[in-house]
Amino acid sequence: MELLHGLLNRVSIQRLEAPGPTESQLEIILQAALRAPDHASLKPWRSVMVAGEGLTRLGKILQQAQLERNPESDQQTLDRCLNMPHRAPSMLVLIASPTQHPKVPTQEQVQATAAAGHAMLLAAYAQDIGAVWRTGWVVSHPLIRHAFDITECEEIIAMIYMGTPSVTPKPAPIISSHPFIKHWY
Ligand SMILES: Cc1cc2nc3c(=O)[nH]c(=O)nc-3n(C[C@H](O)[C@H](O)[C@H](O)COP(=O)(O)O)c2cc1C
Repeated sequence: MELLHGLLNRVSIQRLEAPGPTESQLEIILQAALRAPDHASLKPWRSVMVAGEGLTRLGKILQQAQLERNPESDQQTLDRCLNMPHRAPSMLVLIASPTQHPKVPTQEQVQATAAAGHAMLLAAYAQDIGAVWRTGWVVSHPLIRHAFDITECEEIIAMIYMGTPSVTPKPAPIISSHPFIKHWY
């Protein structure tokens, strides 16, 4: 029942403030991710928790990355990059780290990582931690990849911002399942 409640009602929270998850809350989030479906139990992912000064460091790298993308970026854009990681007190960077396997193709390992990401969101929600999964150009920029030691085989799947909701969460939308299912007898 509790599980269904989370599955049906979790929503992303964009506005987040301190505190972020505690060590024990983070451990639950990681344990939930480690229970995600995963062909051959490869656990084909790793994660990096960014908080405190790490957010400021990341903001500076984002600014540099933006300047590489467009050397004529205006100050407003650069300020936005600097402040981007500070949209929450913590950010969990989720990295797919596939290996060669005779039965489990890379794509399945990336899918397993995404399943782990969803489990992280649900475990955050279950602990009243607000969270939102973000990506965008930042996840594939060489400077960001370098910052998190992303190897050639790896990719950043999510930057999960986490913190205390500073707004009342919107209710989950009600969506008809009709277009998403066909019965085949
Ligand atoms: C792979 C992936 C990448 C996403 N990237 C972004 C993003 O960069 N920015 C953003 O605002 N939302 C992004 N989202 C969507 C949000 O995380 C969120 O799911 C969406 O705003 C809908 O809100 P809900 O989760 O409450 O339904 C992404 C979701 C996924 C699965």
